[in-house]
Formats: sequence, C-alpha cells, structure tokens
Amino acid sequence: KNILGQKDFLAISDFSSDQIIDLLELAKKIKAQKNLGEQYLPLKGKTLGMIFEKSSTRTRVSFEVGMLQLGGNALFLSSNDLQIGRGETIADTARVLSEYLDGIMIRTFSHDRVEELSKYATIPVINGLTDLAHPCQALADLMTISELKGTLKGLKMAYIGDGNNMAHSLMSASAKVGMHFSIACPKEYKPNQACITSARLEAENNGAEILVTEDAVEAVKNADIVYSDVWTSMGQEKENEVRLEKFKDFQINEALIQHAKEDFLFMHCLPAHRGEEVTAEVIDGPNSVIFHQAGNRLHAQKAILVDLL
Ligand code: CP
Ligand code: NVA
Repeated sequence: KNILGQKDFLAISDFSSDQIIDLLELAKKIKAQKNLGEQYLPLKGKTLGMIFEKSSTRTRVSFEVGMLQLGGNALFLSSNDLQIGRGETIADTARVLSEYLDGIMIRTFSHDRVEELSKYATIPVINGLTDLAHPCQALADLMTISELKGTLKGLKMAYIGDGNNMAHSLMSASAKVGMHFSIACPKEYKPNQACITSARLEAENNGAEILVTEDAVEAVKNADIVYSDVWTSMGQEKENEVRLEKFKDFQINEALIQHAKEDFLFMHCLPAHRGEEVTAEVIDGPNSVIFHQAGNRLHAQKAILVDLL
C-alpha cells in the first residue's frame, strides 16, 4: 500500500522507477478526485511543520493548502523565528519537532542540513529545495508532462542554463522514466558530476541518454520539452553580475526554440526573470505551460504527503 517504502522524500534518486511512476498515478487520482469535488481526508489530525530558510511562494502555499485539503494542518516555521536561527542544532530541532509533528518539510541551503534533519527526526522529512535538489518540483513536472504528452518514456527534455538543483532533479527524474535529457550550460556551471554519473547509469537501464553540452542549439534539437530556471539561485545573489555575463548565450528565445519540436512544451519552475533566462515572448507564448506546472505542485505533493504521513 505504501509506495515510497521509506521514511523520507529527499531526492528523486532515492527511489526506483516503479516507485516514481506509482507516485505519479496516485497524484493523478488525487487530482481527479479533487476536480470532481470529492473530499478526501486521510490526514485528519496530522500536522506538517514547514521550515523555511529561503523564500517561497509555490512550495509554501501548495504544501499548506495540500495539508488542509487532506484534512490536516500545516505550520509555517521561518528560520528567522525558530531557535535554529540562533544556533540550536538541527539534531535537537529534529528530535523536539518529532514530539509534536507528523512530518517536516524543509527548504534550506546545504543538502547536508536536510540529511541531518532526516537522521535525527523520527517522523518523515520532505525536501522542499536545497542547493543540490528540488525533488518535489521535478515530480510535479513529470506529472505535467505525462498529462500533456500522454507519455514520458522516449521524450526529450532540454534544460538550458545553470547546472543547479533543478537541473539535478530533472536529470534524475528523466533518467528514472526513460526520458532523454540534455543540458546546455557554460562549462563552469555544469551539474554535479556525481549526479551526472548516477543519472547516466539509470538512464542507460531505461533506454535514455543524458547529454551535457555547452551548445544550446544542440541541446534543444528536436526537444519535446524546453526547460529553464533562473541564472542566479537563492543564496547566490552576490554572483548576479558575473552570472548575467556568463549565461548570456543560454537564453531561451524565439531563435533557439526553432530547433525544438513544433509542439514542444516550455516549462519553468518559477519564479522567472523575463529577458534573462527566457524572453517574455516564449514564457508568455502558446507553448508555455508554466501555470499548469505550478498547479501540479499541489497534487504531486499531496501524493507524497498521503504516502509518507
Ligand atoms: N518553484 C518553486 O519551488 O517556487 P517557490 O520558490 O515559490 O516555492
Ligand atoms: N534554482 C532556483 C529554484 C527556485 C525554485 C533556486 O534555487 O533559487
């Protein structure tokens, strides 16, 4: 009955292809039920704590609303207000919160902090974004692609930009479902080598290829999905000027998308910077599915919550 078979949801790479596919099926069922107006309250009496050490619009609201719709409660815990912000250890925080809550969602900087929290918490821990990974977004993105394209296996996703948390989770998610994945980025901003190596192994098993290139046209060629994320992620604000210069040839614009399939989907995890990583023409154009994508955060995360809590 339990799909994920473990306490936490920290990275896509922790799960098998079948587990990811089954979780997507559950998310679709939960969404369909919601669209019919049926109530589904399996988390009555349960509380999710949501620790934020970085800003958020989508993650915060979708987790909070998701818990309410499932019959539970959610607490927004800003690190500015928690004792964590004054130096209380993650380990103590994890053990204390485990006494009150039924699950913790955390958004933070270093991935080690999430792993530390998961090690000491006796309740499920969900990664709501670290510098290394954004698995909830990648799961919702698979759901969106599958709804709009009717399949995942054999499609090609092209990700243009920084080899960051989004790139890692999308690469890993693509590999799990047999979707080809190509990333074009400046050579100093390639994805983490360990992520590339493990995704390549996984992709091979599932008949897909992972391409890492500095040539945006090569990456976008015949893509079914063209994906972008900001050039400067949260925590990197001081590098903004340098990054604007380094990434200027990695903008998704009218010229670049000519190389994708005609019916490609444009995707972006948001928030976006029009005129930087993507032009307004593309992100607000007919191929863009960014709001459908943002909406699916709610449904995909409800599946995670139901399964873990
Ligand atoms: N995509 C995403 O995680 O958005 P927020 O930063 O608004 O949560
Ligand atoms: N790469 C971005 C994703 C935001 C959802 C960041 O980490 O800021």
